[in-house]
Amino acid sequence: MKKALLLLTAGLVSLSFASQQLAQQKGCMACHDMKAKKVGPSYTDMAKKYAGKADAVDYLAGKIKKGGAGVWGSVPMPPQNVTDAEAKQLAQWIMTVK
Ligand code: HEC
Repeated sequence: MKKALLLLTAGLVSLSFASQQLAQQKGCMACHDMKAKKVGPSYTDMAKKYAGKADAVDYLAGKIKKGGAGVWGSVPMPPQNVTDAEAKQLAQWIMTVK
């Protein structure tokens, strides 16, 4: 049991690390910082804004793929060059950022 918990924790940590790398590879970090507002909102602020919303991951994955405007200010986010699976992984990761 203890071992299973340990493995689960290690798995979650490495998934989180891999997702942050993906965000870096995809250029998200040019406009988004973990905690500070940049061109777009910080990941912490996004996770806070959508915390507790059941459809947050699907909503954010759609936004990442198609881009969006008007939710956080007047600067729009252009559509991003990601697959559906990558958009979903990034959205899931964002919702875990604290
Ligand atoms: C050119 C700058 C830029 C890049 C690159 C960028 N974003 Fe954004 N992003 C923005 C801006 C600006 C907003 C705010 C849009 C708004 O107000 O609706 C935003 C909003 C978001 C939101 C919140 C959407 C909402 O409706 O609340 C998410 C999630 C997001 N970005 C994720 C990503 C991810 C993941 C990537 C990389 C694949 C990425 N962004 C790349 C500028 C960018």
